[in-house]
Order: sequence, then structure tokens, then C-alpha cells
Amino acid sequence: MYNVTEPDGDNMDIMICPVCGQALERENRIRRCENRHSYDIAKEGYVNLLSARRSGDAMGDNREMALSRRDFLNKGYYQPLAQAVTDCLSEYSSDGDVVLDICCGEGYYTAYAAERLDRRFYGFDLSKNMVRLAAKRKAPAEFFVANIASIPIADSSVKAAFHLFAPFNAAQFGRIISDDGVILTAIPGRDHLYGLKEILYDSPYRNDEQEPQAEGLTAIRRIRVRGEITLNSREDIQALFQMTPYYYHTPSQGMARLDTLEKLSTPIEFVIIVYKKQQGATL
Ligand SMILES: C[S@@+](CC[C@H](N)C(=O)[O-])C[C@H]1O[C@@H](n2cnc3c(N)ncnc32)[C@H](O)[C@@H]1O
Ligand SMILES: [Zn+2]
Repeated sequence: MYNVTEPDGDNMDIMICPVCGQALERENRIRRCENRHSYDIAKEGYVNLLSARRSGDAMGDNREMALSRRDFLNKGYYQPLAQAVTDCLSEYSSDGDVVLDICCGEGYYTAYAAERLDRRFYGFDLSKNMVRLAAKRKAPAEFFVANIASIPIADSSVKAAFHLFAPFNAAQFGRIISDDGVILTAIPGRDHLYGLKEILYDSPYRNDEQEPQAEGLTAIRRIRVRGEITLNSREDIQALFQMTPYYYHTPSQGMARLDTLEKLSTPIEFVIIVYKKQQGATL
């Protein structure tokens, strides 16, 4: 479907033109394909590869929510997940391999892993605001704006990809990872944020650990990550609440209970699922 870029030593680039699928070369402040489609590199260092005119910022989190998410993650509350993802990437890739953070958001996990592993890290997101925040982290990683529906990356060019709390696109994931590559995703575990749900709901339920539809991929491993976190400020409690789906459907009594809370302890729990490409799958 897309041209695979020719290997060119360590400088092999994996980004392709979203219009024609040809390799994108870097020239000073732009990236350009041989058909002369060109994309500016922003002053923060990321490149916008969205071919559609519509900006991704209209969808998803607004800037205020993005900043609050960034500040919350920077405090390390989800560090056990970041470490487990990093350990897993370390196991399934080697020095110099390409690692991609799919829907990287404001880049907390990309930066965490890129600062600890000697790989070639890339991250992309539909939202330019998010990608700008990610690039500002100055981690050893390249960021670009793109849509998961058509990832502008050459076929089979990624050794390990990871994908956290974002739309899932099995066909695209299978296309971009190499035959011996992996893609990791994470789902909330049974007890994830149960302490928060006990405040919000009269009859809280446990998560059902439903896994995504992953046609063309085979789950080869599941890794459970558990921790207990204590939030000591209303600001952190609200930031966590905003990051959850409960933010959009919580009864007003539950909201009121949360508003008065100064301290919250809750389990966090995730299941990391490791997928390989199904050999012979039609993508
Ligand atoms: C809940 S955030 C998770 C971000 C990051 N993975 C993390 O865990 O911190 C979901 C992200 O998916 C991005 N997103 C939503 N739809 C997308 C799409 N079609 N293509 C690329 N990114 C998308 C949003 O912009 C948002 O940054
Ligand atoms: Zn082109």
C-alpha cells in the first residue's frame, strides 16, 4: 500500500508523505517528498503531516485539559505504567530500533521511555496542541501530527509500538509493525480507580477488562500492573477526574462529594497486552 523507505544505515527515516506515500526527506526546516509535497517543521521541532485541512484540535481534549493531564502525569502517579511499558519495550526491541508512540498525547510516556532506552523514538497525535506540548519536553524523540486512520509511516518499519488510551486501529498497527515487531496497548484493570468510583457512585462497579477488537493481530502476552496512589490536593483529584470517562457521566451528588474532597486514595491497575502481527493476515 505504501512504499517502504530504503534502509540507509542509521539514518533511515520512516515518515512518508501522507499525499503520495513516498519517503519524506528532511531539508532544514521542512520535510519534502520527491513529488515536492512539503511539510513545515515547527519551531518546537515537530512536523504537521495532517493532509486533511481540518485540524485535530477540534476533537478531543482542549488545551486546558491537556495541561492539567500533563501536570498530573508529571507528578508520577502513573509512573508504574510508564515503567512497565518501558520494560516491555526494552524486552521486545534492541538499541537503534524504531519505537513509536501512537496517539502520544502530551508525550509523558514517550519521554519517559525515550529518556531510558537507546532507541529511535517517534510519537504522533491528531492534536497539534498535544504534539506541541510533547515536543516541548525536549526528549530524544521526533513528533508529528497525524491521524491514526492513515498513519504516515512506511509499512513494516516499526519494531515496537505502544498505544495508550486512544482509538484502536488494528489494520494500521499491523501494517506498520515489522514481521518480528510488537504493539503494546493497555486497558484499565478490574480495580483501576475503584477508590474514585466509590466517591462518585452509590453502587460502583469493577471494570470488565474488555479487550479491543484486534483483527490481524495476535495477543501473545498480558502483563498486570498494580499500584495504590494517594492524591493530596483538590487540584490533583480534579485533574484525575477529568482524565476519566466518568467526567462525562457522573450524577451531581457524586460530583458534589468529589468537590469537597482534599485527599483521595485509590488503586490503579492496568493490563498491558502485547500483540504480534498474525502471519499471512490480510490487512
Ligand atoms: C486520552 S488521550 C491519551 C494520550 C496518551 N497516549 C496518554 O496516555 O497520555 C487520547 C489521545 O488520542 C488522540 N486521538 C484521538 N483520536 C485520534 C486520531 N484519530 N488519530 C490520532 N490521535 C487521536 C487525542 O488527541 C488524545 O491526545
Ligand atoms: Zn508526496
